[in-house]
Amino acid sequence: MTQPSSLSLKDNDNALIKAAIAAMASAYAPYSGFSVGAAIRDEHGQIHTGVNVENAAYPQGSCAEAGAIAAMIMAGGRQITAISVAGKGDLLCTPCGGCRQRIREFAALKTPIFIADENGFRQAFTLDTLLPHSFGPDHLEK
Ligand code: THU
Repeated sequence: MTQPSSLSLKDNDNALIKAAIAAMASAYAPYSGFSVGAAIRDEHGQIHTGVNVENAAYPQGSCAEAGAIAAMIMAGGRQITAISVAGKGDLLCTPCGGCRQRIREFAALKTPIFIADENGFRQAFTLDTLLPHSFGPDHLEK
């Protein structure tokens, strides 16, 4: 699943992508002007959204994916079954390195990551293609 056409997306994938795009409008990004929305589907089929929240003390800002993960955990979800990230621009708004690792904590290696812009779906990846040879919870299991 590196680059399926949008026609191959399932209805619930499209709903997830729409949720990420809609979330962009709620971003707090006064410094970069770059709004990001993220939407996660959990193991219960519930969707959780998040946005980037910037801060005048720049390093204290947080990414949209982190917000969506926090919302999922708060709601009782523990497994990311799919995630969508939406941001404007010609370049794909793929998750930053730190967020790839955050996603890794709760997602299987083949979990789809749907990248979108304000107009819709752009490209799909799986987690293992964005974060190969990753370190995860399995490494710490006894
Ligand atoms: N950003 C995200 O929210 N997620 C990412 O994966 C990449 C970057 C945000 C952080 C910051 O508020 C803005 O985009 C510019 O870096």
